[in-house]
Amino acid sequence: MERTLVLIKPDGVKRKLVGEIISYYERKNLKIVDFKLIKADRETAESHYIEHKGREYYQSLIDYITEGEIVTILLEGENAIGIVRKINGATDPLQADSGSIRGKYAYSKQRNLVHASDSKENAKREIDIWFPGI
Ligand code: PPS
Repeated sequence: MERTLVLIKPDGVKRKLVGEIISYYERKNLKIVDFKLIKADRETAESHYIEHKGREYYQSLIDYITEGEIVTILLEGENAIGIVRKINGATDPLQADSGSIRGKYAYSKQRNLVHASDSKENAKREIDIWFPGI
């Protein structure tokens, strides 16, 4: 069974959309293996977004993900990575499908509520960061 990592970002927690967001994944038959409400430190956030280091928005991405509590979720299911990316929708809410989480609720390319792993390699890397030992 495939596993993937989801983060509900600080805007999702502040706007009380945690239950709504999790229910999207559950209704698509994905299993919650584990989840946690935490405040990420900068070091963990930087290692999560290592691929984006050097981009003009990198510092503001780190500021944003560490500004408040987030929910880390380990999900499992057939084609979990692809299904979750589809449910989340495109990075830019203007491009995101209107039925997706971002299409419905996200405010901008940065304040876009959720993160999900984009490949098997990144899923493994990100799960090791947020759920070490699982
Ligand atoms: S892009 O446009 O190709 O870089 O898009 P993507 O690879 O999906 O984006 C990677 C993460 O960076 C965030 N992002 C931004 N933040 C701030 N400003 C701008 N302009 C911006 N563009 C992209 C985006 O929300 C992605 O976060 P995650 O958590 O990976 O979805």
